[in-house]
Formats: sequence, structure tokens, C-alpha cells
Amino acid sequence: MKRAIYPGSFDPITFGHLDIIKRASKLCDELIIGVLNNKQKNPLFSIDERVSMIKELTENLDNVKVRCFEGLLVDFAKKIDAQVIIRGLRAVTDFENEIQLAQSNKVQYPELETLFMTTSLKYSYLSSTVAKEFASYGGDISLFVPPQVIPLIEAKFNSKEK
Ligand code: PNS
Repeated sequence: MKRAIYPGSFDPITFGHLDIIKRASKLCDELIIGVLNNKQKNPLFSIDERVSMIKELTENLDNVKVRCFEGLLVDFAKKIDAQVIIRGLRAVTDFENEIQLAQSNKVQYPELETLFMTTSLKYSYLSSTVAKEFASYGGDISLFVPPQVIPLIEAKFNSKEK
């Protein structure tokens, strides 16, 4: 049984994340989406909001489960007995951070492999940060996040303006 983790902040989930989730779910028996509960990052969405959005958007994928985690990714991976970490690579700018993350995780837990998937070309510019930046100025985010996420993100910025 190959259990893989796709970890991230998902603040919020974008079309780029969903694309990796769909493709990665075909490569393993079970894909656990690990949503990082890191209050230091001061996320726009609470951990419950992020988990609930991802659950709704992946409910049609039978071998995908959503879990939140705190602390080190390697500890979470050990706890759930995952053998593989999946990370998406958009451009060379991602590489430096990702190789450091993968290698430090490998040193800590040698049995755990990190596999990189190239982001689809049409999402290579996309990040949660880009989506939030556009939303914060009232921009069109329909090409960035699924329709279900749009009112949630807009509500966050509307409530901030009041
Ligand atoms: O979506 P992100 O924010 O790029 O995801 C980053 C994430 C969550 C994969 C990474 O920050 C992480 O694994 N954090 C958990 C803490 C940890 O294990 N840190 C060691 C890395 S040096």
C-alpha cells in the first residue's frame, strides 16, 4: 500500500493544488492531503475552513483524504505511515526552497521519499498568495480558485474592509 502525503498551507486551495491532487491520486493507493496548522503564518482561513474547502472539492476522489497536522511533516508522515511526500514544482524559483525541504526531511526520515510533480503549464504562475492579492483588490479570481472558494475569499476581504 503506497500512502502519499501532499502537504501544504492551502490558504486557500487553488486550481494548481487541485491539478496536482488529481494527478497524484492516480499514482498512489492513498493520498493524504496534509493541511498545516501553523498559526505563526497568520493564515487568511482557519484550519477548519481550509480542511472543509478541500474536503468538499475532493469528495469525488475515492482515495483522497484530508487531515490537518501541526509540527514537523516527518512526524506526521511517520504517524500516518506514509512512504512518499508529493510537492508541486512551478518554476525554478520554487526549486531552492523545495530541495532544502526535501533534503532536510530525507535526513530526518530516510525511508520517506519526496517526489516532485511539475505543475501544469496553465497554472505555473499561480499561488494562494496571487489569488489573495487579486481578491484583496476586488480582482477577478475565477481563473485561480474553484467557484466554491470565491465567495469565501471575498467575504474575508469584505469583512476586513469594515
Ligand atoms: O504550501 P506551503 O506553505 O508551501 O507548504 C509548506 C509545508 C507545509 C510543506 C512546509 O512548511 C512544512 O512541511 N511545514 C511543517 C514543518 C516542517 O516539517 N518543517 C521542516 C522543514 S525545514
